[in-house]
Amino acid sequence: MSDIKIKITDRDGVLHEIDAPTDMNMNLMEVVRSYELAPEGTIGICGGMAMCASCQCYVNSGHDLPEKSDDEEAMLSEAFNVEDNSRLGCQIHMTEALDGLEVELAPEEI
Ligand code: FES
Repeated sequence: MSDIKIKITDRDGVLHEIDAPTDMNMNLMEVVRSYELAPEGTIGICGGMAMCASCQCYVNSGHDLPEKSDDEEAMLSEAFNVEDNSRLGCQIHMTEALDGLEVELAPEEI
């Protein structure tokens, strides 16, 4: 299996069920960008370095995600609209274990 199904709710509250490849070394932020689920320039601003929080999302399914790195923890401690289930999308890599993942994009920080 090389594709997984994930559900992404965009910032307008619209649910998208998409197929994400697990064999292209993509992270969730890149998947959102490739499906154009957030306007260009509002997500992935730091290029996936855990330095901007533009890719913040809320994880609504019970998947066992890898622990946050110190960089991700630090960035989320400074970001707005952070909830207990907040993660940085660029730090979530697409693996088969994430089949059925449900996430919601956090509001844009302005
Ligand atoms: S893209 Fe900047 S923190 Fe994820």
